[in-house]
Amino acid sequence: MWSATDEGSVREAVSRALELGLNHFDTAEIYGWGRSERLLGSIIGNIDEVFIVSKVGGFRRSENDIVKAAKRIRERLRRDSIDLLLSHWPPPFYADICRVIHGLEKAVDKGYARSIGVSNYSSSLLEKAVYCTRKYEVKTDQVQYSLAYRTPELAIIPRAKELNITVMAWSPLAKGALAASTRRREPARMSDPVYRKVANDKCLHTVLERVSRELKLTKAQVSISWIQSKGVEPVVGVRKPKHVEELSEIQEYVLPDWAVQSLDGASRRYLDIWGETYKPLGKMRVLPGFIQLVLIKLIGGV
Ligand SMILES: NC(=O)c1ccc[n+]([C@@H]2O[C@H](COP(=O)([O-])OP(=O)(O)OC[C@H]3O[C@@H](n4cnc5c(N)ncnc54)[C@H](OP(=O)(O)O)[C@@H]3O)[C@@H](O)[C@H]2O)c1
Repeated sequence: MWSATDEGSVREAVSRALELGLNHFDTAEIYGWGRSERLLGSIIGNIDEVFIVSKVGGFRRSENDIVKAAKRIRERLRRDSIDLLLSHWPPPFYADICRVIHGLEKAVDKGYARSIGVSNYSSSLLEKAVYCTRKYEVKTDQVQYSLAYRTPELAIIPRAKELNITVMAWSPLAKGALAASTRRREPARMSDPVYRKVANDKCLHTVLERVSRELKLTKAQVSISWIQSKGVEPVVGVRKPKHVEELSEIQEYVLPDWAVQSLDGASRRYLDIWGETYKPLGKMRVLPGFIQLVLIKLIGGV
C-alpha cells in the first residue's frame, strides 16, 4: 500500500534510529505479507536493545491459529520472542473476544511473545479484552489518533488511563498530511478518509505553520509533540533517515500550553466530523474472517 518503499532507505532509517536512541519498532504480519517483519528482522535480528511490537490479523480468532501466527512472526523477525504482541483489529462481531485474548496469552506461555495488547479496540471492546485476561495484562490499545482524528479522546483515552493501559497512536501525521510530506498519491493515503479530509484543511495548516514558526520546529515535530501532550505514544511511519533525525530531537520536548490550546481549537471540528464512535477498521467486524482474508489479499495489505 506504501507503493514506493525503498529497502535501502528503510535500512538506513532503522540504523540511524538506533544510533539516536530510538529503539521501539512497530510492524505486523500483514504489512507487505511478512516483508516488513522480514526486513526489520534482517536489520535488528541480533540486537538486544530494541523493543518490537507486532500484530496478528483480526481474521485469526482461534487460540491455536493465533499461537501459530505468533510463532511465524518471531521467525520472520529472527527474535526469540516478540516484545509486545497485539490483536490487530477486533474479531468479527459474532466471534468471542476472549478466544483472541487467550490466544495471545498462550503465545506468551509458549515464549513467542513477552506481553500482549490490542489495536483498534473501542473503549467497550477494550474493557471486554481486559475482562477476558487470565494471566497477563493488556498493555496497550493502538488506535488511529492525530490532530485530524481525535475521536479516541472521547472514550478510549480516558478509559485506558483508568485501566492503566498505554494508548499508542497510529497515523499520528495523518499519513504525512500534517507534515511537509511528499504527498504522493499512494493507495495507503488515498484509501484513508482522514488523510483526504485534512490534506486540504487550510485553517489547521495555517495554525500548524504559525506554531511551527514560533517554536522553530517542523510541522511534523509539532503534530507529534501535540500527541505526546495528550499522554499518548505516537507510532510514526518513518522510512527516511532525515525524518528519524527530526523525531529524535523531540523525544523529551514538551509543547507549551498556548500551542496545545491553539492546535486543540484549530482541530476541534474533527470531533464533529468523525463522531463519537471509533470507526477505523470497524467494518472488519461485520465481515467473516475468511472474507477479510480474501479482501486483504486482493488489496495487498490494509
Ligand atoms: N494498528 C493499526 O491498525 C495501524 C494502522 C496503520 C498504521 N499503523 C502503524 O502506525 C505507523 C504510522 O502510521 P502511518 O505510516 O500510516 O502514518 P503517519 O506516521 O501518520 O505518516 C507516515 C508518513 O508521514 C511522512 N513523514 C514521517 N515523518 C515525517 C517528517 N519528519 N516530516 C515530514 N513527513 C514525515 C512520511 O512520508 P514520506 O515517507 O512520503 O516522506 C510517511 O510516509 C505505521 O508505520 C504502522 O506501524 C498501525
